[in-house]
Amino acid sequence: MAGRIPSTFIDELLSRIDIIDVIDTRVPLTKKGREFQACCPFHHEKTPSFTVSPVKQFYHCFGCGAHGTAIGFLMEYENMPFPEAVEDLAAKAGIEVPHEEESEKPRENLAPLFHLMTQAGEWYQQQLKSHPQAHSAVDYLKERGLSGEIAARYQLGFAPEGWSHLHEKIGQDEQTTAQLTRTGMLIQKDHGGHYDRFRNRIIFPIHDSRGRIIGFGGRVLGDEKPKYLNSPESPLFHKGKELYGLYQARKSSRTLTQILVVEGYMDVVALAQYGIRYCVATLGTATTSDHLYQLFRSVNRVIFCFDGDRAGRDAARKAMDTAIPLMRDGREILFMFLPDGEDPDSLVRKEGTQHFEQRVTQATPLSHYFFTQLQEQTDPHTIDGRAKLVALARPKLSRLPAGMFREMMFKQLSTLVEIEADTISSHLLEPTEQQPPFPRTAQPKPQQASRNTSPSPVRIALSTLLHHPQLIRLITETTYLKQIDTPGVTLLNEVIETLHQSPNLSTAALLERWRGREDESLLHKVARWTPDIPEEGIEKEFTGAMQKLKSLHQEQQTDQLLRQSSQRALSADEKRQLQQLLSSS
Ligand code: GTP
Ligand code: MN
Repeated sequence: MAGRIPSTFIDELLSRIDIIDVIDTRVPLTKKGREFQACCPFHHEKTPSFTVSPVKQFYHCFGCGAHGTAIGFLMEYENMPFPEAVEDLAAKAGIEVPHEEESEKPRENLAPLFHLMTQAGEWYQQQLKSHPQAHSAVDYLKERGLSGEIAARYQLGFAPEGWSHLHEKIGQDEQTTAQLTRTGMLIQKDHGGHYDRFRNRIIFPIHDSRGRIIGFGGRVLGDEKPKYLNSPESPLFHKGKELYGLYQARKSSRTLTQILVVEGYMDVVALAQYGIRYCVATLGTATTSDHLYQLFRSVNRVIFCFDGDRAGRDAARKAMDTAIPLMRDGREILFMFLPDGEDPDSLVRKEGTQHFEQRVTQATPLSHYFFTQLQEQTDPHTIDGRAKLVALARPKLSRLPAGMFREMMFKQLSTLVEIEADTISSHLLEPTEQQPPFPRTAQPKPQQASRNTSPSPVRIALSTLLHHPQLIRLITETTYLKQIDTPGVTLLNEVIETLHQSPNLSTAALLERWRGREDESLLHKVARWTPDIPEEGIEKEFTGAMQKLKSLHQEQQTDQLLRQSSQRALSADEKRQLQQLLSSS
């Protein structure tokens, strides 16, 4: 894990990229005056209220209140975690993301752990070639039809029988023992001592996308149980994120266009043996959005291969649910179901490469599978059945990102149930489904500035300053602001201080400075509310609000001095101050 990304880097990144490009490639924008517009990708609408400002580097939807920076957009739209969004933008800008060490809790340096995994991998590979007992493993692999070339490509190895070969080979000093235990290569005994996790097994190294070994899978040579052992979760290995074979698939072709997702290690390796090199396997877990996210970074077309039985269908439905929020235009997901009792390994041996690939070509697109499996649960010949179909389909479809695909899916639903598309989409606007598709960070609807009271001067000052950071040049004096007691003024002071230090921050950069802070949501509340003021009136609005704060300060000072004068004698200084305050008010 890398350390924190310094905020100055985020400032620079946001100044090098353009939010218009970032959004436009995903949600086509139309220029309208100085800003850009589109129908909001985060809620369903027919007239555009999603605006993007090139000056502020900020997007905002007047309909649902969604807003943020280019980083925030990627996080919402692509479901990316923050560091990945930053990496993605930095890669496009051609700059490297620096990471700073965290001061209190220094980030662990994982290099030694990676190094141990490389050593372990090499040792297992060597054992497959030269260990006296390796013939059983070699025979096993041969019997399963694997060539030396494929074994070498996937760096297959052999862990010989015995409790401490790896430990002895790599190092039994305290530090190495501790590190090997952290990676899961050694298991600690209850009463002291350690033993090798993998014994008498064929070893499948698991690589990350950069080709570093992060874990291993091990298969028994016969029918013993458990058939497979995997590395446990460790600082290097997170099985819900990693895909076996992805590194090799990407390496096999510079122009990878599709990836087939299968279940087993052996399936990946056997398919590669038959020249089908675009396969990966999940590591005994269901497909996660992290998996899909990784896959869509490499290709736009992902085919899931499942058993034809009930369990396979259940798994397919789950994968589909996970995939729906990631189905933006241009991405394809397909499902391929195998004949009973076959897995990709057995099938490709039986049918050969050409037939197997024909099945891949004939895989069912998500759009089709979506409706077929719903129709299996409902009777399309009755009104009740069709109503049920809509009820099942609508909440799922409303999680699709905006775009052609989403429109077409709704259209298809309306055709199936024989009602107007408009009727179905208007139902979408029912309150329960109005939220943007990502409940994790769903924004509430913008609060109408409360009816009776007008927004406070702090709020106006903060909002205008946030949306027009160049106004900072008008603030020269801040002592009085530090003495006022009124809600929100602390945040205002901090924003002012930040801008005094870095006067060229954009709205976006300013918002990013607050990411993860306790008062982040407060700033976002302010950001969501843009005062309805024409451009030329903004400066006046801002100075007006600041003036009001100055008056408020005077009132508060006066009150305080008067209160004190009733309790004790004021000093000469205080008297002079009070006189001044009274005469100026
Ligand atoms: P073969 O039997 O060698 O053909 O293996 P396979 O790859 O076809 O495995 P299978 O279809 O039985 O299982 C699919 C995947 O589930 C495997 O590749 C493993 O990741 C996982 N798996 C299967 N059995 C076990 C087990 O006993 N323990 C664990 N942890 N995972 C298993
Ligand atoms: Mn198998």
